[in-house]
Amino acid sequence: MTAKIIAVTQQKGGVGKSTIAMHLGAALHEKEKKVLVVDADGQNTLIHWSSTTCEEVGIPFSIVNLAEAGGEIHKEIKKFVNDYDLIIIDCPPSITEQISGIVLLVASIAIIPISSSPADYWSSIGLMKLIQQAQIINEDLKAVFLLNKTEEKRMLTRELKRSLKKLSFPLLKTRISTRECYKQAMALGKTVLQMTDRSSKLASAEIRACTNEILMLLK
Ligand SMILES: Nc1ncnc2c1ncn2[C@@H]1O[C@H](COP(=O)(O)OP(=O)(O)O)[C@@H](O)[C@H]1O
Ligand SMILES: [Mg+2]
Repeated sequence: MTAKIIAVTQQKGGVGKSTIAMHLGAALHEKEKKVLVVDADGQNTLIHWSSTTCEEVGIPFSIVNLAEAGGEIHKEIKKFVNDYDLIIIDCPPSITEQISGIVLLVASIAIIPISSSPADYWSSIGLMKLIQQAQIINEDLKAVFLLNKTEEKRMLTRELKRSLKKLSFPLLKTRISTRECYKQAMALGKTVLQMTDRSSKLASAEIRACTNEILMLLK
């Protein structure tokens, strides 16, 4: 078993990297994949999230903290590749950190969350250049944008989609809508896939669809 590596990366904070990394992990686990989620961001959102124990059900898959690994992160990741089908890496919100660059050298795909804010678009330009540099060495590296927190500001989303066409990487068909349940899930130490209210069910459907799209790209 040699794990495929999925990097969830973006220069900006607050775009949903951690939320998407955790939910991709949950949807892959549900598909009976052996999945490891790596917290590579010093803010350690995923470590805090998974150690929140409000209820009996917690995060049902492995999460490891490699935020301190710095320029050695590829060596730490290598220790896990034989034990998992997929390794998802929640990257730090910076392209100047060594971790962000190195992860792109070992990843099969980079998922770039983006919302409708122009700032997200601008920060994607620098990241796109970093990914293109990585692709010189890691020729198999794919990259895709994932629209997160849509719904609000529909006009802007349309504008953003037009702008994204100018960038080199495609946009996943599935969009992740803004829903309170993502915040609730984080506060409860679980994912929306484990919640049964209507909003969580709609959110789960989006997460599953997005995961399927990514799996197709990894084939
Ligand atoms: N689709 C969404 N709908 C509602 N809230 C979201 C959504 N995606 C992320 N959030 C919230 O936005 C905040 C930032 O998300 P997070 O995943 O921590 O971003 P990042 O890791 O990029 O800094 C969190 O409070 C999270 O719950
Ligand atoms: Mg984060």
